[in-house]
Amino acid sequence: MRQGAADYPHWMQIERELRRKLQRLVNAASMDDIALVKNTSEGLSLLAYGLNWQSGDNIVSTNHEFPSNRIVWESLKDKGVELHLADLDNDDPEEAILALCDTNTRLLTVSSVQYASGLRLNLDYLGEYCRDNGIIFCVDAIQSLGVLRFDAQTCHADVVVADGHKWMLGPEGLALLYTKPELRSQLKLKQYGWHMVEHPGDFDRHDWQPTKSARRFEPGSPNMLGIHALNASLSLLEDVGMETVEARVLQRTKQLTDAVMHEGLLQLLSRSDPERMSGIVTFRRKDLDNAAHAVLYGYLMRHGVICAHRGNGIRFSPHFYTSQQSIETAVTMAAAFNSG
Ligand SMILES: Cc1ncc(COP(=O)(O)O)c(C=O)c1O
Repeated sequence: MRQGAADYPHWMQIERELRRKLQRLVNAASMDDIALVKNTSEGLSLLAYGLNWQSGDNIVSTNHEFPSNRIVWESLKDKGVELHLADLDNDDPEEAILALCDTNTRLLTVSSVQYASGLRLNLDYLGEYCRDNGIIFCVDAIQSLGVLRFDAQTCHADVVVADGHKWMLGPEGLALLYTKPELRSQLKLKQYGWHMVEHPGDFDRHDWQPTKSARRFEPGSPNMLGIHALNASLSLLEDVGMETVEARVLQRTKQLTDAVMHEGLLQLLSRSDPERMSGIVTFRRKDLDNAAHAVLYGYLMRHGVICAHRGNGIRFSPHFYTSQQSIETAVTMAAAFNSG
């Protein structure tokens, strides 16, 4: 209130710190690969509308994606681009996905973890296939960044997008967009402004060109409030350590999975094999239809169990700080709920 923007140089340092943290979070080769965008949908749209599509190109994805990772690809239909969706209700989801790839496939786009079921995909396997077959590999990592360790280089991702407001514990309105430099330089730019040029502070300069770094996707003033908040929440995750966060979350999902399987009235909808597990466990009550699950969801929320009604069931998503006691209570309440 008293200082206006006097601390702006310091705010810019926080912005740099945040980029460094995001670089570490996805193990990007350089901080220059990290752009700060509004949300996952915007990041995916920058990719979708930056590529030079040919009629007959196809995109492979899955039938369980959150709409952010479907609608934008469907919107390319009038350019003659087809969207092929693999059925993830399959013992071997990676094979179901790769079976759809052919010589016209330009892009494979998947969520690292499915938002409704919590299914974790083997990104290294998919990425290797894409690299070997000249397919762009795009990962919507919103349901895994901040809970599971991630390595953009090992999984050969060309693009990684994730909003900060889920497992990264940040506010809405600020997302990470990671791009590999080779792909980045091929993407046509759709937004322009003072901030995305090579010398952004030099307002008198009239010759300009877009910077080579991922800042080229950031046309104007940054979301400084969001940057401070996300920087703070990622500091928390770094203080705890991603290895510890991941281990604790997986221990909680295992506890939750076991508790759900133990309750006769509950049916686990998520997979229970360790390599498929994430932070999400979804289950249903065997005696209730989908409409009654909406009532169960309302009941749980009113009684302090923060959850979601997804994938025809109830989705629990404990973070590393969720107590074991809360997990036990939540499962007991879901099992004891009387729809009458
Ligand atoms: C897999 C997935 N992608 C994207 C989003 C959100 O997209 P956006 O960041 O564009 O709001 C969600 C939100 O639930 C999600 O689960």
